[in-house]
Amino acid sequence: MSENTPARILVLNGPNLNLLGTREPEIYGHETLADVEELCRAAAAKAGYEVEFLQSNHEGVLIDAIHAARGTFCGIVINPGAFTHTSIALADAISGVQLPAIEVHISNVHKREAFRHHSYISPVAASIIVGAGVNGYVLGVQQLIHLASR
Ligand code: DQA
Repeated sequence: MSENTPARILVLNGPNLNLLGTREPEIYGHETLADVEELCRAAAAKAGYEVEFLQSNHEGVLIDAIHAARGTFCGIVINPGAFTHTSIALADAISGVQLPAIEVHISNVHKREAFRHHSYISPVAASIIVGAGVNGYVLGVQQLIHLASR
């Protein structure tokens, strides 16, 4: 890890992801958000990193969390949910704080409706992980650790 880089990762989840486990399980699987949190913490702990985990259905709460992440976290793993396809404000927050952000989608959005094919977040993301199920969050955590230890 580079000097002065906090060994902490912020994992953010946007709208409706609190319903994971019961929400369209044929698309999003049976794991709950609590399961995802545990997976992220375990993956981070292997490398001596901590995770802060936040889900919100409110765009402004996510934006505030991104702003507060500067100086406190080495980067952000974010599944913005449907805000992916609508939120310039979320994209601006990510580019504004200049922290690496890994965009994660549980489902393969490119196999789904056309409105899910465009992401406002992808142009400001360091990496994008789609269609890996909840393991995408683990890959996101690992990728941030990789970036922070260069
Ligand atoms: C999602 C894909 C989005 O299109 C959708 O609105 C979600 C979840 C995913 O994880 O696959 O809420 O981000």
